[in-house]
Amino acid sequence: MNINSIVKKLQNNLSKNRFEHSIGTADMAKELAMIYNGNQEKAYLAGLLHDCAKNLDNQQLAKLLENEGYSTNFLQCNKILHAPVGAIIAKREYNITDKGILGAIKYHCYGKADMSLLEKIVFVADKIEKNREFEDIKMLREIAKRDLNKALLYSLTFSMNNIIKKGYFLYEDTIKAKEYYEMVVEKKDNL
Ligand SMILES: [Fe+2]
Ligand SMILES: [Fe+2]
Repeated sequence: MNINSIVKKLQNNLSKNRFEHSIGTADMAKELAMIYNGNQEKAYLAGLLHDCAKNLDNQQLAKLLENEGYSTNFLQCNKILHAPVGAIIAKREYNITDKGILGAIKYHCYGKADMSLLEKIVFVADKIEKNREFEDIKMLREIAKRDLNKALLYSLTFSMNNIIKKGYFLYEDTIKAKEYYEMVVEKKDNL
């Protein structure tokens, strides 16, 4: 599937806002890949497809993941289900076979300790793409261009606080990821 067909298919499947957010995330992911010597093409594709399952409702998402053997604990975390389903759909419906791209889609919501460069890039790009608006976004965009781990830590904390504030279930791997990157950032600051 070439990039134009992917964009067209996404446009048909997602709401206007979600589609624009996907393009914004792809552009930002490519920009970050350029800064951090990552694969720009993969970053763009992963950014483009990261929310490709966002049009499904929670019941559909949970059903799909249940069939894949995800735990009931995981299935309770409503806000993040579209991420692993996105990786499944990217493979099945958009013919993406690259494990790096699929991983970046899968982890874009909840993260994990020791993420790959591409996973970090997509996680951060999702938060700072040009259509996003929140307090501190200017600062986070600046940090993202200087220190990707620091921007990731900020993004993980931001996601966690949002989930807690809204009363959703928080997945344990996000806590582990946050602790891991607190250590990484602290180590670097002490050098
Ligand atoms: Fe998402
Ligand atoms: Fe997103």
